Amino acid sequence: MIDWLEPVIPHLKALHVIALALWVGGLFGLPVMLSRHDHIIGQADYTRIRLASHVSYVWIVTPAAVTAIIAGTWLIFLREVFVVWMFAKLVFVALLIGFHAWVGHHVVKMGESDGRHDPPGPRVPLLVLLVPVLVILTLVLSKPPLEDIPLPDWLTEPRNRQLPVSDVPRW
Ligand code: HEM
Repeated sequence: MIDWLEPVIPHLKALHVIALALWVGGLFGLPVMLSRHDHIIGQADYTRIRLASHVSYVWIVTPAAVTAIIAGTWLIFLREVFVVWMFAKLVFVALLIGFHAWVGHHVVKMGESDGRHDPPGPRVPLLVLLVPVLVILTLVLSKPPLEDIPLPDWLTEPRNRQLPVSDVPRW
């Protein structure tokens, strides 16, 4: 590792943790906000909650997700954590990103369907979200030695093959 980058690690980790707290907090909060999009509350309150969910998704939760992912990616290389628990963590992070996209889909639908889109209830999504969040936190905080789990060769050894992409055309 490049020596002068070492003092950066605690700052990057702090940035990672702050960003993911905002990200995951937002992912828990947004389904609850979405479920409050109800015409019974009146036009003014409906507009206010729609704007609040849109602004928080676009200007807080998504930038926090991008920041957490960029800081986390830097940390992989700086801390050299090329270990199985980290790769397992990334699988569950992918689920979190899927959940983020699902929330975004509903935020857009609420804004663009003239109030004809019924938001999902918050209970099931929040329970689903709890699974990857708890698994990620368990993996990252206990760093279990998963190296003994047998993995297929294609995941552990270089394949020495070309990537399946066609040649870049020459002009
Ligand atoms: C693409 C997304 C992510 C990447 C690449 C990533 C990567 C990393 C890396 C490399 C570390 C440093 C580990 C070490 O120093 O041993 C770390 C720390 C941490 N990550 Fe992530 N992470 C990601 C997303 C998340 C998410 C979504 C959560 C929580 C839900 C999370 C929770 C944490 C925590 C709590 C730490 C501090 C652990 C410690 O210092 O012991 N990360 N992450």
